[in-house]
Amino acid sequence: MSTNEALEFDQLCQDYMNALYQGISGFVSYEPGEKEEGEQKKVFLTYGEMLYPSVNSMIECMEIDENDVIYDLGSGVGKVPLQYFLKTPVKKAVGIEFSEKRHSLAEQVFNQVRQEFPDLFAGGRELIAINGNMLEQDISDATIIYSCSTCFSEELLSGMGEMADRCPNLKYIASNKPIPNRMPLAGLLDVDCSWDKTKWHMYSRDGKLMKDITRKEPAISEMTEASGDSQQTSGTI
Ligand SMILES: C[S@@+](CC[C@H](N)C(=O)[O-])C[C@H]1O[C@@H](n2cnc3c(N)ncnc32)[C@H](O)[C@@H]1O
Repeated sequence: MSTNEALEFDQLCQDYMNALYQGISGFVSYEPGEKEEGEQKKVFLTYGEMLYPSVNSMIECMEIDENDVIYDLGSGVGKVPLQYFLKTPVKKAVGIEFSEKRHSLAEQVFNQVRQEFPDLFAGGRELIAINGNMLEQDISDATIIYSCSTCFSEELLSGMGEMADRCPNLKYIASNKPIPNRMPLAGLLDVDCSWDKTKWHMYSRDGKLMKDITRKEPAISEMTEASGDSQQTSGTI
């Protein structure tokens, strides 16, 4: 694909995602006590998203082929798995989300893609939304793990690291908070999120990435109630 064709294709994907998510938002309201109850189960419901161009930057750091399987741990309305599914040759893109409301929106969008572009699913390619606690899922076929983990506790991050260490074919982890795991930190990626600019921890099997990124320590910006949940995704896809 020439550079122009790649740019055109990227614009098409972004426009398609904009259309799919018209009127759909992960910034849902909570029942009284729902967030506190979630935290007892290592579920942190506060919402925010990585923006479309930043997901592209993350993709560019990775060598991805048709054997790859990406999991978004805490996938909200499913934008990141969908972007991987549209923009890369991954054979399977999975979003795991605890919130029933966000999960059902992801499923609605994924079903629409299935109906509108059945060819994208040729050869058994899969785009899956799972509703549940990430810690209770089998992700052992993962080759890429992504998580927008700003609001996650150290306990949840450790659990995620243990899950990652049980994936024999894992190649990359991308997470804004550090995840203790067996792969070396390859660098810190500058990204724009719905609440702020931040740096993303990029781990890879050999400590290398497809593009050079900074190795400096990040200043992780906190996603607060005020800047996260209560703010709409202006500027997001
Ligand atoms: C900051 S949002 C990220 C949304 C999406 N991944 C993105 O980057 O656009 C984090 C999501 O993780 C979900 N979550 C938090 N703890 C979870 C858990 N233990 N299991 C599954 N989902 C969880 C929250 O409900 C929320 O939708």
